[in-house]
Order: sequence, then C-alpha cells, then structure tokens
Amino acid sequence: MIERRVSLSLPHRVFFTEGVFDPAQTLLRDVLCPAEAEANRVRRVLIVLEKAVAAGQPGLEAAIRAWFAAQDGLLVLAGLRIIPGGEPCKNDWPLVEELWAAINDAGIDRHSYVIAIGGGAVLDLVGFAAATAHRGIRLVRMPTTTLSQADGGVGVKNGVNHFGKKNWVGTFAVPFAVINDFRFLESLPVADRRDGVIEAIKVALIRDAAFFREMETEAAALARLEPAILHRVIQRSAELHVQHICTGGDPFEFGSARPLDFGHWIAHKLEQLSGFRVSHGRAVAIGMAADLQYACLAGLLTAEDRDRILALMERVGFILWADELLAVNSAGQLVVLRGLEEFREHLGGELCITLVTAPGEAREVHEMDDALVQQALEWLRGRTAVPALT
Ligand SMILES: NC(=O)c1ccc[n+]([C@@H]2O[C@H](COP(=O)([O-])OP(=O)(O)OC[C@H]3O[C@@H](n4cnc5c(N)ncnc54)[C@H](O)[C@@H]3O)[C@@H](O)[C@H]2O)c1
Ligand SMILES: [Zn+2]
Repeated sequence: MIERRVSLSLPHRVFFTEGVFDPAQTLLRDVLCPAEAEANRVRRVLIVLEKAVAAGQPGLEAAIRAWFAAQDGLLVLAGLRIIPGGEPCKNDWPLVEELWAAINDAGIDRHSYVIAIGGGAVLDLVGFAAATAHRGIRLVRMPTTTLSQADGGVGVKNGVNHFGKKNWVGTFAVPFAVINDFRFLESLPVADRRDGVIEAIKVALIRDAAFFREMETEAAALARLEPAILHRVIQRSAELHVQHICTGGDPFEFGSARPLDFGHWIAHKLEQLSGFRVSHGRAVAIGMAADLQYACLAGLLTAEDRDRILALMERVGFILWADELLAVNSAGQLVVLRGLEEFREHLGGELCITLVTAPGEAREVHEMDDALVQQALEWLRGRTAVPALT
C-alpha cells in the first residue's frame, strides 16, 4: 500500500468594482496578466456573455471589444459568444458542446481564460464547460445578478441539470477570479434585484448578528434597493460565503453539513412545485420563514426573535407565502415534505438541517418532525391572510 496526501492551496479571490470594461479600468488586466508570472506570455480570452445582459446593457459588447482592442498584443480577445441564460440554459446539453467548440475554436489552453458574464445559471453552465475542457481551464466569473454576486457566483461549484435533476452533472473548481461589477446589476428587473438580499439575510442569521442588525437599521433603504446599501450588503454576504468555503473545512462538500443551505430544503421543493414561477430568492425567503416557525415550535427560537426576523424579510419586500406549499399527493400528504427526503438524498445519507436559534446563531438537527413542519406551514399561511384553498 502507498498512501500520501495530495495537498493543494488555491487562492480564492473576489474583486468588487464598477465598470470593469471602462476604458481607464485596469483591474481585469491586472487579474489576467499578473506582473510576476511569465510577463511575455500571450493570453487568449474567450468571453461568454448572457443574452439578457447584452440586451439590458446595449453598449456592453462594444465596450468589451474596445477594452480588449486597447490592450497590447499580450492580451487577445479570441472570441465573444452570446448565449441564452436563466435556468433553461442548464437544461440544454447542446449548449455545453457549443461552449466546448467555442473554447476549442478560440484556442484556449490551460494558460488562457474563459470569462463568463451572466446570472448564476450561466456561470454554472460556463463553469462546467470550462472545468471539463482540457481537464480544467481558467475561469473568471462576472456575476450579473444580486443573488450570484452575494452567494453562488462567489462559490466553487458549477454544473448543469441532467436526468431531470438539478446540478446532477458538475464539478467543484475554484475560479481563477470572481469580479463583482455592480454596474451589471443596473439592468436587472427589480424583483430579481431584491432576490440577492435574502441570501445576505440568511448568512447573517447563521453567522453574523451585527450584519443582521445593520440590515434592520437600513431596512427602508434596502427595501428601495438603494445602491449604496445594496452593494454593501452584497459585499458582506459574499465575504461571509467565501469565508465559509475557505475556513469551514469542507469546501468540496465531502460531509453532510450544509450550514449555508438554511431554508433551502423547502425552497428547492417550492421552486420545483411552482414550475419555477417562484424564483430561488423568493423561495428561500419562504423556506426560511417556515423553518423559523419550526424552530419556534420546537422550542429552539423565541417568538420575539422569530417575529423580528420575519419583520425584516417583509420590510425589505419578501412575501412569505406561496400556495404551492399546501399541495398534497393522492394520499393527502403534503408534497413539500418530499423535499426533506430529496435533501437527504442530495447530502448522500444523513439528514442535516440548519435551524436558526437567534440572529447570528444556528444549530444543526438530523431529523425533522413532519407534524411540526405541517403546523409551521399552516401558521405561515394563516398569518399571511391568503384566500382559503379549495
Ligand atoms: N454554483 C453555486 O454554488 C450556486 C449557488 C447558488 C445558486 N446556483 C445556481 O444559480 C442559478 C440561479 O442564479 P440567479 O439567481 O443569478 O438567476 P439566473 O441566472 O436564472 O438569472 C435570473 C434572471 O435574470 C436575468 N439576468 C441575469 N443578469 C441580468 C442582468 N444583469 N440584467 C438583466 N437580466 C439579467 C437572467 O436571464 C434570468 O432571467 C440556479 O441555477 C442555481 O442552481 C449556483
Ligand atoms: Zn440559495
């Protein structure tokens, strides 16, 4: 028997800026051509840009081309592809092959770059194509939604949907760099712009009571999605997510604990039950609300803290109910409960659900009581004063 350790220590860098392709901006140049590394090597770059971003920011494509044209011969724009985005792009396997072909046509090797500009779905798709081309080429992510800037885009996972299952095929790969450019958010519809705030509230509830209090103080400005507070909230959320990945001890998720998936077991099921009518952010708000009431019923959270947290979520504009939650199967059981089983399967064995016990404090439980979940959902529905279901 031979046994050794394979050790890797990779930098994980997230930059914050506005207008990365403005003519005077040098951040991207500094990232792609670090002074200390092989100064004379030519770097080829393939840009993959989401269609909705290109359409929402009409000058962007020209600005990208002009920015690269102004570089010297060491930094070459070898291709620019515009692809559709949103969740459907992760269900479209031919797109993966198109991206591989684009990477091949642009002559991108392991010292060149793919830059993905888009929402979390596009980043997942392009990230997967990049991680599997040449066994992994350098990827720079430029997330364009609040949710991906605050959470998924700064992570180390990629993937597309397969066999009708979300993220069934994918890899863990640390991006070469992430550039959060707040200018990209300007074309995002208001409801989508609000979505990222819930991941910030989520990570504050689990990790950072002071951040939670800050959002309470700024709730009115946050509800108006004022850029100054929105950017600050995205930045702190990204920081806490990256801190978890880099210091949590399990960046590639070998264990079963997923502390940052608070509220997500119901959210994933609700997104699916609603045929994706309910967006991820809105579903997470509802999932968190239900698990907060569950924790309250289980004696883990005071009613006062529960009300305080729900109040913040509602003040910033989230509606904490969706009728799909009361869908039942032919045996009269709540379909959403199936989400617990799916979450357990996703973790690969032991169920591990994070519950908040106070703002900034959380604990894990390994079983959930179906009757209490049902009571929590009924309570949530009751307080939202929705019409009775028939
Ligand atoms: N890899 C991870 O760790 C991770 C973590 C969380 C979520 N995710 C994945 O991320 C995806 C969700 O990402 P998302 O919330 O960013 O949503 P999204 O990518 O679906 O984008 C939401 C909508 O906004 C549009 N859009 C994106 N940027 C825009 C812009 N700047 N202007 C105008 N329109 C724009 C998109 O076309 C889409 O219609 C899901 O597939 C989820 O599974 C991945
Ligand atoms: Zn999420």
